[in-house]
Amino acid sequence: MTTEYENKGNTAVADTDDVVLEVSDLSVTFPSDDGPLPAVRQVSYKVRRGEALGIVGESGSGKSVTSMAIMGLLPRNARVEGSARLLGQEIIGLDDKQISQVRGQRIAMIFQDPLTSLNPVYTIGYQIAEAVLAHRKVSKKVAMARALELLEIVGIPSPEQRLRQYPHELSGGMRQRVVIAIAMANDPDVIIADEPTTALDVTVQAQVLDALQRARQETGAALVLITHDLGVVAGQVDRVGVMYAGRIVEMGSVEEVFYRPRMPYALGLLGSLPRLDGDRGDRLTPILGTPPSLRDLPGGCGFAPRCPMARERCHEEEPRLLAIENGSPERETGDGLSGHTAACHFSEDLVGAEAGDLFRATSVDTESVGSVAEVEAAESQVAEAREGYRGRRTRRVPARPPTRPDPRSCSPPPTWSSTSRSVPRGCCGAGSARCRRSPGSPWTCASGRPSRWWASPAAASPPRRGCCST
Ligand SMILES: Nc1ncnc2c1ncn2[C@@H]1O[C@H](COP(=O)(O)OP(=O)(O)OP(=O)(O)O)[C@@H](O)[C@H]1O
Ligand code: SF4
Ligand SMILES: [Mg+2]
Repeated sequence: MTTEYENKGNTAVADTDDVVLEVSDLSVTFPSDDGPLPAVRQVSYKVRRGEALGIVGESGSGKSVTSMAIMGLLPRNARVEGSARLLGQEIIGLDDKQISQVRGQRIAMIFQDPLTSLNPVYTIGYQIAEAVLAHRKVSKKVAMARALELLEIVGIPSPEQRLRQYPHELSGGMRQRVVIAIAMANDPDVIIADEPTTALDVTVQAQVLDALQRARQETGAALVLITHDLGVVAGQVDRVGVMYAGRIVEMGSVEEVFYRPRMPYALGLLGSLPRLDGDRGDRLTPILGTPPSLRDLPGGCGFAPRCPMARERCHEEEPRLLAIENGSPERETGDGLSGHTAACHFSEDLVGAEAGDLFRATSVDTESVGSVAEVEAAESQVAEAREGYRGRRTRRVPARPPTRPDPRSCSPPPTWSSTSRSVPRGCCGAGSARCRRSPGSPWTCASGRPSRWWASPAAASPPRRGCCST
């Protein structure tokens, strides 16, 4: 693919070791009335050109704030310390004008919700072309041609037609692919994708991930893929970093972290993930508890309150992120570029460990007393609620109208009015054909079936016209 566009603009200088983004000891603190909130603590990593790094972690672990700090998108009151070097250039602390020259050109970000990234009042074509024109001195025609080319790359069907449409006319998956097209518009060196597939169904997720990979191939950019989906990470990235309570607690190749984790939290995350290659009947082993409040972090290891391996030292001293050699931590920290690093005082104890060795399965059909008791309590609550509902329903439903009594059981026996023979006087008023004074009387249908005479009280006397017995 060679275009007029391609030969202009991006003058990125390759670093000697091909590292495009180097983040060192990056910390972010938000001031608040309740005290400072350390959202990100000493995060360090490096990404090579063309490499894909996954960042995983629970909600609130600081994944997005780390990326927003790198992109210069945090509010002014956020205190950002440490360094992020893009192709050797420090980008933390740049003013608005300087960072806007970098953002979108050398580093681009894809956010979770494409609707908030796209402007509803401009067409798709206009918005992609605008991203091109912001950093390139090309004509509108060339920018629009580039927009068309980008839509084709990310796999949007009928791209010429889509160029003229507005965001609301596209599906969620298409919108996310448009955002990917905008991100790759200027052949950036790094693309940060923050949960790009969340809230999309599995088929559309696959299309978006495919578009991301194509963006990576076309631009040669490094990809930082933030997600809570370990399945996505396993299939899409080369290395993975696990974040917990604002810091990276384990980092390594996908194989190292997935098959030989050296930090109990990473092992626990894997144990809580359903596996297609697992045995039928295998139980998940969730990590009990919740992450600590960032305002009130425990003194030692942040994972200690939830860690089945926690010992005294864990509550006193926060473990450093150390390189793992032969299953044991070395004295030196890793270089953030290769190798396996973990932050755990007892990471060597995890050699050969499985999630089930540390964390308990909590399905209802295990021996876990707590969970069975909980289920029983829940069941009895449901039963009570059901009873209560039945009671209310009985009271609310109006009583059925009383059924007409069988006149044969009337006491005293019915007598007949001389003027209206249809209604037995003194009777309950049911007026049924079964009402008889006595069997065989002239006013009674011998067959027991109603006579028309009954139905025609104006007739003064017998013969019983139309009676079945006549
Ligand atoms: N602008 C802000 N002001 C104050 N606190 C913030 C701000 N932005 C984020 N935080 C806090 O920083 C912490 C980390 O948030 P962050 O958005 O990075 O989490 P995350 O790992 O991306 O979670 P998720 O998976 O839910 O997106 C959270 O406790 C959050 O409340
Ligand atoms: S340092 Fe201690 S509490 Fe923290 S993960 Fe390791 S064993 Fe668990
Ligand atoms: Mg986030």
